[in-house]
Amino acid sequence: MVLISPVQGQLKHGVYVITLDNPPVNAISISVRRGLIFAVDDFEQSNAQVAVLVGSNGTFMAGADIHEFGRTSDGPVLLDVVRVIENCKKPIVAALQGAVLGGGLEVALACDARIAHVDTVLGLPEVSLGIIPGAGGTQLIPRRIGIPRAIDMICGMQRLSAQEAKNVGLVDSVVCSDVLEAATLFAKNVEHKSRVRDELVPNEDPALIDQAIKRYTKQGGSRPAIAKAIDLIQLAAKLPIEEGLVLESAAFLELRKSQEAQALRHLFFAEKTCKKPLYTKEISSIPINTVCVIGAGTMGAGIVICLLDAEFSVMLLEQNKEALDSGEERIFSHYQNQVETGKLSPAEASKCLSHLLCSLNWEELAKADLVIEAVYEDILVKQDVFKKIDYFANPNAILATNTSYLSVEKIALATTRPKRVIGLHFFSPANVMKLLEIVNAKQTGLEILHAGIAFGNRLNKYPVVTKDSFGFIGNRIYNAYRTQCEFMLEDGAWPEEVDAALVDFGMAMGPFTVADLSGLDIAWRMRKTQRRNPETRYVDILDTLCELGRFGRKTSAGYYDYTNGKKQANTSELVRQIIEKASQRRGIKRQTLSFKHIQNRALLSMVNEAALLMREGVAQRASDIDVVFVHGYGFPRWQGGPVFWARQQDRQQLQDDIAGLAQHGGNSFVPADVSILFENSP
Ligand code: CAA
Repeated sequence: MVLISPVQGQLKHGVYVITLDNPPVNAISISVRRGLIFAVDDFEQSNAQVAVLVGSNGTFMAGADIHEFGRTSDGPVLLDVVRVIENCKKPIVAALQGAVLGGGLEVALACDARIAHVDTVLGLPEVSLGIIPGAGGTQLIPRRIGIPRAIDMICGMQRLSAQEAKNVGLVDSVVCSDVLEAATLFAKNVEHKSRVRDELVPNEDPALIDQAIKRYTKQGGSRPAIAKAIDLIQLAAKLPIEEGLVLESAAFLELRKSQEAQALRHLFFAEKTCKKPLYTKEISSIPINTVCVIGAGTMGAGIVICLLDAEFSVMLLEQNKEALDSGEERIFSHYQNQVETGKLSPAEASKCLSHLLCSLNWEELAKADLVIEAVYEDILVKQDVFKKIDYFANPNAILATNTSYLSVEKIALATTRPKRVIGLHFFSPANVMKLLEIVNAKQTGLEILHAGIAFGNRLNKYPVVTKDSFGFIGNRIYNAYRTQCEFMLEDGAWPEEVDAALVDFGMAMGPFTVADLSGLDIAWRMRKTQRRNPETRYVDILDTLCELGRFGRKTSAGYYDYTNGKKQANTSELVRQIIEKASQRRGIKRQTLSFKHIQNRALLSMVNEAALLMREGVAQRASDIDVVFVHGYGFPRWQGGPVFWARQQDRQQLQDDIAGLAQHGGNSFVPADVSILFENSP
């Protein structure tokens, strides 16, 4: 078998053109690195005086091949490629288009000039993968754009447009025409080597450097990479470049092995994977242009905003004028705020709003390709609304419910077309949260599921498919986690201890802070509708709080007392008494629980439920569960998600710990066989 190199060199009209073709994004794999070194050598030996380096597939290079990060390789590293280009005796011009990211930008900076198509995006996103640029980025970038800007670019993961890159000096010229032609023309006038590595880091006001550093010093689990990048960028001004490069290389290799980096890589691929359907059948897509949202509450208005942002034509429908007006007001004030804070221009905001129609006339429904119901979370209310939707909607329309835990099947059966009904579970605020659970109910047609996934992708969300099971993926696991945290209250911990332990693990908020924020009455109402197994360990602290009118932050009292305009959460002596009484009723002698103990039990409860719902086929892939938790529930990104966390533990120990968890969970606790989380990779 003859292996064709993804890098080809060819003499064209006196210019040596090096073309890289490694679809889809020209990632710099080992064969690309070998090919680039070979091509530069071939160029040096040719008669051409100048070369142009260009990528196929509409892009330059999206950086190092992330698939290779977990493997060892004996070939040249990217820094070797950078050095070969820099040390080439004849100039090389980079023709940039599409993605010029990570190692791609480092290769471009090793060249003697950079010509960019106007649609090019340049950036060093390495810290999002828990690493730092490893082929000269921390030493070359500050030489070109100064230390404060380099810190912003690397630690802030900024992606610059071609014009922005030109403004700061990373690019020599921006063109709207064919970039290879433009770069070839430019190259013909280039006579000398002009290496960024030979430049000096510009002198900068130390105050500006300090301010830039402060912007990135509290960045959670990306901290090790960010701290290292800041050190190295500053060293660029103090050390000869070769010394800086050696330090950078060592730090890159060290960080690449770290657990944070492994977690972030796992999520990189999990996020891409969840966007793809699992079925292989070719399914024709159903066009969705006009969407009708029913219900103008917080959720409905948020959904409308995310639809307008994605350039859909949107109708907002309500039953009463007051609710419609308040929803409309919410949407308008959102766009007003976007303009005031400079996130949108007045023209952009007006354009979004021009696609919105707010109405009380249900006959408008007939125009919609997709109808999304976002009314009160009550099965009878939803079934009534769906009967009405069924009456007015176009027979070809897709009907979606935004329920967060109710049976989509039962809702669908209120219509004459259950095949066309699907669940689209948005997370609040819907215009901010990137997660969208796509609920594949029993009767949902495959083409409707396909349309739902495509719709989620168009909204730029993570469309995770879930079976129609109570709470779907997210709320079901969250429920198991919250229940375990309630057990810990009875066992001896205070709400603030549980919250602090989980924030210490990296959760955005502890469960009792979340409960107070979202309103305890919602959970209380849901609990009342559920049949309870007498064998189940049931903690009634939340019910007692609600009976006392303590619904959370909105009533200035919940698990905490709130002062200072509801901003400050304080320990409540009354809540402590309620918890102590609950422990006494259950005959529990309260014990202090350590942070480690709290974190373990909380995580084990998530892992156990994750394994149960994988066995039941509720989630399609274990990695989808991590996407759900990171994007819907504030699970720390650098911990990779509950499944990634489980995979870092010793499997037998994990299984034993789950068995141990059963002793806290009452007779109804079902310990899962966790092997499924290890088997089904991703
Ligand atoms: N390595 C390997 N595969 C990559 C990749 C990379 N650097 N970047 C993207 N891909 C893959 C994706 O996994 C996806 O593969 P599948 O189709 O099999 O799922 C495919 O390319 C297309 O990616 P997207 O779906 O994301 O396509 P897009 O058009 O929406 O976006 C992109 C393209 C802007 C390049 C985006 O993929 C992206 O931002 N990639 C990340 C780039 C990155 O982080 N680079 C830095 C790498 S680290 C580095 O370079 C270290 C160093 O200094 C040595």
